[in-house]
Amino acid sequence: MYTRETLFVNEKGHLSVGGADCADLAKEFSTPLYVFDEAHIRAMMRAFKGALDEYGGGGRVLYASKAFCCEAMYRIADGEGLGADVVSEGELYTALRAGFPAERLYMHGNNKLPQEIRAGLDAGIGCFVLDSREEACRIEAEAAQRGIKQKVLIRINPGVEAHTHRFVQTATPDSKFGFSVANGEAAAMTAFVRTLAHLDLAGYHCHIGSQIFERRSFEIAVQKCVAFMAEMKKSQELICRELDLGGGFGIWYAEGDRALPPQGYREELSAIGKEVERACEQAGLPLPFLLMEPGRAIVGEAGLTLYTVGSVKETAHRTYLTVDGGMFENPRYCLYEAKYTAVLAERASEAPQRTYAIAGKCCESGDLIGLGFRLPETKAGDLIAVLSTGAYHYSMASNYNRNRIPPAVLVKDGKAEYIIRPQTPEDLVRFDTIPSRLKP
Ligand SMILES: Cc1ncc(COP(=O)(O)O)c(C=O)c1O
Repeated sequence: MYTRETLFVNEKGHLSVGGADCADLAKEFSTPLYVFDEAHIRAMMRAFKGALDEYGGGGRVLYASKAFCCEAMYRIADGEGLGADVVSEGELYTALRAGFPAERLYMHGNNKLPQEIRAGLDAGIGCFVLDSREEACRIEAEAAQRGIKQKVLIRINPGVEAHTHRFVQTATPDSKFGFSVANGEAAAMTAFVRTLAHLDLAGYHCHIGSQIFERRSFEIAVQKCVAFMAEMKKSQELICRELDLGGGFGIWYAEGDRALPPQGYREELSAIGKEVERACEQAGLPLPFLLMEPGRAIVGEAGLTLYTVGSVKETAHRTYLTVDGGMFENPRYCLYEAKYTAVLAERASEAPQRTYAIAGKCCESGDLIGLGFRLPETKAGDLIAVLSTGAYHYSMASNYNRNRIPPAVLVKDGKAEYIIRPQTPEDLVRFDTIPSRLKP
């Protein structure tokens, strides 16, 4: 198992996170439960920030809030001096409600709705990242009405096949995201945006994918972006002031994945910054202000999910442990056959003896946390911790089968508090309404 200062097996043989014993957390807050380690979240934010502080052109880390969005996360990101990327009115609303400074918000999305554009402009967000001509026109019209000039970036697709699952590759030739550099769309969009009087085109954004381990993929993206920036300087006399390289750093989920301490991520991002410096120098370009948008790497390993085993079932091919969670709180196995590490939270130092599949409680055969987990002999009532569940779990959760989305606690120095409160049965019917003809 991967361990760190705030995630280890304690003297009782229990899994400890953020100074709290997982068995105590389960007793106090019940299961299923998302647990977030605040110290690790902060350490990751500081690591990325430290790397951009070293970069010659200045920079800012934008926390990609889609990874795990709640008010407490914005409080932490603000406290650490980060900006944030938001992709919907809901994320924007959450950030503003948490008191996050609007000027440090960048709004993404490949189909920003008119009301999302208005909400962003009303709030005075720092920047919109454009992903269509239509939305550029909508922002232009709204900005004109308000008599302002709105900073924008254009999302470009530099054509990089990052080595990751195809569902999380975002810069392949047929990606729905961005304007292709290769077919001239990015250059045409640049020229178009510059005709819009109320948009201030500050530069470019690209995001090549997620769960990427190879630095080389980022370096290629840098080289392609800088080459495009040089082309735009030559053909359109545009000086790119900002370059946003998106997110995508891979994290440890299971054996075979690279496990990096925060310092390792700092080194990765520093190397990317150096590549921007090198490529810009070679191209004779001034250094752009550099933005990065890590989400998964900030919050993924900081999270774990606690479950109680409800039953053990033998089938022809495998033994299932059925837990009190499933695809409603972790859809990632169903989406990508994602791999995880599971630990018996109260017998974490015992040697594994058997191989189990861990199944959820939803009415779908594919509702699995995964296959092939090596654990000690496990029985109903045992507490299981699945590691690295901080990113794209709660944010992708649903009430499928009218299950309640689990609450989340933030733990630091052994003290845990809710950051997402438990749902009640009443919450599940809150939006239901019965037409009068069906009323008794
Ligand atoms: C535009 C953009 N930025 C940042 C991210 C965050 O990526 P990750 O969580 O892999 O760091 C994403 C993820 O989809 C994204 O689409």
